[in-house]
Amino acid sequence: MIVCHCQNITDKDIDAAINWMRAADGTALITPGKVYRALGKSADCGGCMPLFLSTMRKNDNMEVPMTLRGLRAGITQETQDERRQESY
Ligand code: FES
Repeated sequence: MIVCHCQNITDKDIDAAINWMRAADGTALITPGKVYRALGKSADCGGCMPLFLSTMRKNDNMEVPMTLRGLRAGITQETQDERRQESY
């Protein structure tokens, strides 16, 4: 199925790009822009983005790597402490 008509990108192209990126780097955050670049293309009108994103989400390799999970909680705790030591 063609997902992006401007660049003639299919759902199989998107899956192949995601699988290749995940195999190359297990900790990479995969974005639509990276998928376009991996395919040697760039978005034109952007009209395909909702379908492009839903196609990406269906890929099993789109999970956030374990090493990158919970980072927001760490930032929140750090902000809450305002980087002060206990003696202050
Ligand atoms: S349809 Fe994908 S950029 Fe236009």
